[in-house]
Amino acid sequence: MKTIEWEENKLKLIDQTKLPDELTYVYCENYQEVIIAIKDMIVRGAPAIGVAAAFGMALAYLNDDDLDKAADEIKAARPTAINLFWAVDRVLHSDNPLEEALKMYQEDIDTNMAIGKYGSEVIDEGDTVLTHCNAGALACVDYGTALGVFRAARDAGKNINVICDETRPRGQGASLSVWEMQQENIPVKLIPDVASGFLMSQGKIDKVVIGADRIAKGGVVNKIGSFMVAMAAKQHDVPFYVAAPLSTFDFEASIFDTVIEERDGDEVRYYGGARICPEGTEVINPAFDITPSEFITGIITEKGIIDPI
Ligand code: MRU
Repeated sequence: MKTIEWEENKLKLIDQTKLPDELTYVYCENYQEVIIAIKDMIVRGAPAIGVAAAFGMALAYLNDDDLDKAADEIKAARPTAINLFWAVDRVLHSDNPLEEALKMYQEDIDTNMAIGKYGSEVIDEGDTVLTHCNAGALACVDYGTALGVFRAARDAGKNINVICDETRPRGQGASLSVWEMQQENIPVKLIPDVASGFLMSQGKIDKVVIGADRIAKGGVVNKIGSFMVAMAAKQHDVPFYVAAPLSTFDFEASIFDTVIEERDGDEVRYYGGARICPEGTEVINPAFDITPSEFITGIITEKGIIDPI
């Protein structure tokens, strides 16, 4: 299953807003359509956003658009995942944007397979592993980072059980990670976001593996709620791993300087199409949070497992 494909000079994306009920595709023929797909979360997840943005630049090149203008506009689509900025700059400074985007597409798959190989070594036979949000094939070109670790562990012959939390307000854990694990026949259970601490206290979660949108000095930025899972894990001595490619790292910056995306309050006010609070309720809706390094056991990269920076 490929989240992103390049077909007849068009970018083909799985429409993640329609999952888990429908597997449908959206085609982008110009960079402006790629921006809409990123903003509306048709494509989401840091590596997938990066590769989609790279193809957005390729479309701008093929359509004879101003590449600097396209780069600025694509970078403004979402503020937090570093892969977006990294990918746009890499294509902008390449000799051939389409060739570069295709190269990044293949690199993403190879990188995830390598992350899976290293990550599967920390997963033991019979483990129950918790993940938050969706750091799977859907968040990348294919295979996934955190869910790639689970795929690789299963392929190494280990019997594992996966627990996905819902990941309110957008529900990526429920709608995407559960769906992906079911497609792979990896045993999976869904829990409410609020249940992970209790399950850890009962000894029912052996490890946590999540993805990342940005890793810099001091910690990791990932989907809102990651920090709460990390705190619960530390309290209960549950190893907490982050799986991410080196393209997610910024070795110079402080993680505490990250711009955290604030999304529309209706994502919180409404659930399954129904309003769940009094009309006009004020909302705070940060899309990501920061897990400080002291809560992280290790970061699983394509070059091996490293300490947080
Ligand atoms: O808002 P989203 O769905 O784009 O957020 C996605 C996440 O936070 C993922 O966990 C992260 O991008 C890592 S994906 C390999």
